[in-house]
This record gives sequence, C-alpha cells and structure tokens, in this order.
Amino acid sequence: MSTIIAVMSANDEVGKTISAINLGYALADNGGHVLLVDMDPKGTMTQTLGIKHNIGIPELIGNRLNDISIYIDDDYIVRHSKNIDCIPSSNKLSIIELLLAVDENIAKGTFHSLPGNYDYTIFDCQTGLSRLNSNIIDVADSLILPTLATIESMYYLQHMISVIGKLSQKRTNLHVNIDGILINKLDNYNKS
Ligand SMILES: Nc1ncnc2c1ncn2[C@@H]1O[C@H](COP(=O)(O)OP(=O)(O)OP(=O)(O)O)[C@@H](O)[C@H]1O
Ligand SMILES: [Mg+2]
Repeated sequence: MSTIIAVMSANDEVGKTISAINLGYALADNGGHVLLVDMDPKGTMTQTLGIKHNIGIPELIGNRLNDISIYIDDDYIVRHSKNIDCIPSSNKLSIIELLLAVDENIAKGTFHSLPGNYDYTIFDCQTGLSRLNSNIIDVADSLILPTLATIESMYYLQHMISVIGKLSQKRTNLHVNIDGILINKLDNYNKS
C-alpha cells in the first residue's frame, strides 16, 4: 500500500509544486519508489519535470466519468527518473473539474485505482478548496500545507485547517493527518 501525501494550500504561489517535487526527490533518494501526481490544470509539476506527454490525470478521470474502463499503465504513467514516476496534468483538468458536479466522488474512485506498488504517492494540488481537493483529502494519509510568513497566508492556512477539521467530523472514514505546516520563502533580512 502506498502512503498518500497531498501538498495543498488555500493560497497560491506558496511553493506547493516545488515542495511536492522536492519531497518526491528526497524520498526517492532514500530508496522509496515515488509516484508524483500533478493535480493542477496549470500543469506546473509536469512542466517543471520536463514531461511532454499528452495523457494523464484529466484523461484518467474523464474516462471514468464516461464509464470507460481504465487500466492505469504506461499510457498514463511517465517514467521520470530512477524511483520517480509521474502522472502528468494539463488544462483539460479544469473542464473535468466542471463535470465532477455530475458525480462528486468520481475523482476519489480514480485515486483508489492508482497503482499501490509505490512507497509514496504525492499529489501536487491546485490552489484552493476545490471539489478535486476535497476528493484528495478523502483518500490521503498525510497533508503537507505550505504557507508564507504573512498575515494573509496565516488566514488562508487557518481557513484550510478549519475546513479539514469540519470534513473530518462529517466523514468518519477520513484518516488524513496534517503532518506538516511548511513556512516557505522565509527571508531573514529583517532580523534585528
Ligand atoms: N523557498 C523558495 N525560495 C525561493 N523561491 C521559491 C521557494 N519556493 C518556491 N519558490 C518559487 O515560487 C514560485 C511559486 O512556487 P510553486 O510553483 O512551487 O508554488 P505553488 O504554490 O505550487 O503555486 P501555484 O499556486 O501557482 O500552484 C516558483 O517560481 C518557485 O520557484
Ligand atoms: Mg503549483
């Protein structure tokens, strides 16, 4: 069984993507077999890893929405480097997200069918508290919440933690833990 880690935040540009990639590399360096999943329609993780592949997470969820049976193989998974594979994303994911209104659990079903033979599956989430992110919280074991050391970011973080707390009260099968609040882009130059 893969440990599922999601890197998530309610505000943008806090370093979710870079942290998800760095975490993946660190775990892979320690001998872990890692699957990176790009869950952002912007596809920043896919681009940063230099992946040029047309099929990925939007097609996986899209096929499931259309009742097309899927076997998650090399059509969807890109071998990136030793111990690191990736399921890429693209802007088609934003269309898929709109269609999730039909069945809000479709994405969760897709995540449950991801290969379990990885030590770690790391989701790079899009900014905010979207339906997709709620599906990811449903399947995740661990959440890492990057934030900035600003008042605005602290409000966003507080909001995110409160929503996760409410979800936990509503959904008794939720087993997610907040395992880290990562204060990123800290600049010491104001230190007196
Ligand atoms: N610790 C850091 N020091 C300097 N630059 C950083 C640091 N962390 C991230 N960045 C830079 O900040 C920008 C945003 O980072 P990143 O794309 O990882 O954030 P994000 O939260 O995933 O953004 P988005 O909301 O667009 O998904 C990038 O240019 C990245 O290189
Ligand atoms: Mg990002």
